[in-house]
Amino acid sequence: MRRGLFLTLDGPEGSGKSTQARRLVGWLRRHGVSAEFVRDPGSTALGRALRRVLLASREPLDPLTEAALFIGGRVRLVEERIVPALRRGRVVVCDRYHDATVAYQGYAGGLDVPWLDRWGREAIGGVMPAFTLLLDIPTRQGFARLRRARDRMERKRLAFHRRVRAGYLAIARRDPGRIVVVDATRPADQVQRRLRAKVAARLLRERR
Ligand code: TMP
Repeated sequence: MRRGLFLTLDGPEGSGKSTQARRLVGWLRRHGVSAEFVRDPGSTALGRALRRVLLASREPLDPLTEAALFIGGRVRLVEERIVPALRRGRVVVCDRYHDATVAYQGYAGGLDVPWLDRWGREAIGGVMPAFTLLLDIPTRQGFARLRRARDRMERKRLAFHRRVRAGYLAIARRDPGRIVVVDATRPADQVQRRLRAKVAARLLRERR
């Protein structure tokens, strides 16, 4: 079986990770790398439906229900998109993933972090990224960048989002072999250059 490379971009609100992720995929493709972009939640019919419930609806949801829905969508994303692409030897770039559940529903939402981490990993059969770029930005600064109307998660209090950021940094400290923290307050082009350098180094290492 050919082996691809699975990498994720994650981070608090307003870190610019979605734009950065798309640029990264474009750059990989221009260099002849077979790369696929997916987003979590999304990129499958179920994922898009769950995304609407989780982000666009006014339905009040407790953190446990949120976690169940995010994880359920991820199970489908792994089966339908991620594993097949990795089997074809492709590089998969995923916008958010398991770390987001631990940061948002665990550290910020109050679910027990070790328990949630275990549940989330088991649900996806241990399909974890080889490499994660964590785009870090202070909470207020991230929110100042949001130009569009806020979704359900973004409407949560600033204190919630401060816990999200601290959660991400705690996850990164625990897993320095997988997670690289990138300063997302820098100008976008500079951030993109750093991401490319990190990914290029990683690709060279993996392909050796
Ligand atoms: P975004 O990726 O477009 O920013 O939207 C995803 C939103 O959902 C964002 O506010 C983070 C939140 N989220 C969770 O709360 N838990 C999760 O597991 C994931 C993947 C996202």
